[in-house]
Amino acid sequence: MRGDVEYKITTNSEQETIELAQNIESEKFSNMIICLEGDLGSGKTVFTKGIANGLGIDENLTSPTFSIIKEYHGEYPLYHMDVYRLKGDLSELGIQEYFYKGGIVVIEWADMVEKYLPKERLNIKIKITGENTRLFIITPVGKKYEDLCEAVL
Ligand SMILES: Nc1ncnc2c1ncn2[C@@H]1O[C@H](COP(=O)(O)OP(=O)(O)OP(=O)(O)O)[C@@H](O)[C@H]1O
Ligand SMILES: [Mg+2]
Repeated sequence: MRGDVEYKITTNSEQETIELAQNIESEKFSNMIICLEGDLGSGKTVFTKGIANGLGIDENLTSPTFSIIKEYHGEYPLYHMDVYRLKGDLSELGIQEYFYKGGIVVIEWADMVEKYLPKERLNIKIKITGENTRLFIITPVGKKYEDLCEAVL
């Protein structure tokens, strides 16, 4: 196994973040899990929109404010979760079943529910570095995610 690889990518606009997400989406596989962490307004939802676009989802993607999870139907199903309001407690929600439903899972504030996540996943930390700039620190865990990163990053 390779060691902990880390990719650092800066985007200079919302559009560049969407393109980064689309690149990652282009190497998708069933049950792919993308974990996003980063402050309010860092671009987690914008990134998720890029994944949705890549999957051919036309519906406007918004944060799942009243639900914890929203489901979209594209080339693969997209399960978009925002666990901010859960305050770390996933135990009663049955959210784990979504990790094995054959879709793509994107989780905002994944760091809050870390103990419930599968070990193999794509971890993405987003840092606000300026008004329109964001630093993406991408860490693949597991061979499929390492191969994905090697292919597109
Ligand atoms: N390089 C960039 N990439 C992504 N978004 C950017 C960038 N530069 C500026 N922005 C702006 O930052 C904001 C990101 O908002 P977004 O809703 O995606 O954040 P979020 O991380 O999902 O926040 P929350 O924690 O509230 O869910 C948008 O208003 C977007 O236009
Ligand atoms: Mg959001």
